[in-house]
Amino acid sequence: MTIARLAVICALMAVCWLLASAPGLTAGERDLARGKKLYEKYCLACHGTQGRGDGATQFDPPVADLTSSEVLLKPDSRLLKSIHEGRPNTAMDAWKSAMSEDAIRDVLAYVLTFPR
Ligand code: HEC
Repeated sequence: MTIARLAVICALMAVCWLLASAPGLTAGERDLARGKKLYEKYCLACHGTQGRGDGATQFDPPVADLTSSEVLLKPDSRLLKSIHEGRPNTAMDAWKSAMSEDAIRDVLAYVLTFPR
């Protein structure tokens, strides 16, 4: 075996090792750690630590309980739209300028982990 061949094999092994040790996020999986961070930054004040709508700030109409069947029965696409565009005539703002589509999906994935 030539040195050049050995070098190629070593390089391939290094690439495989890097890929294997990267955070295991294939397409379609959500980054819950990022979702949690963003939730705590943007949503917690109104929606509360467990999403029950009991955050520090109350509004009229009231903050949605994100663990209620009223919210959970809506399809994910509908909830993503609510976060993206906000809810008209409520305190629920549009978040599309603060977060990427991908980040909003991570936040929703985190929200869906709350105990019901
Ligand atoms: C200023 C307070 C406030 C903040 C901050 C806030 N929300 Fe809301 N949210 C509300 C209120 C009020 C409602 C109820 C809206 C309604 O009655 O339709 C709501 C409703 C929702 C709903 C239910 C929407 C539906 O279609 O039923 C979701 C999901 C949601 N919020 C997610 C989030 C996420 C995720 C964040 C952070 C990125 C966030 N909210 C930040 C006040 C807030």
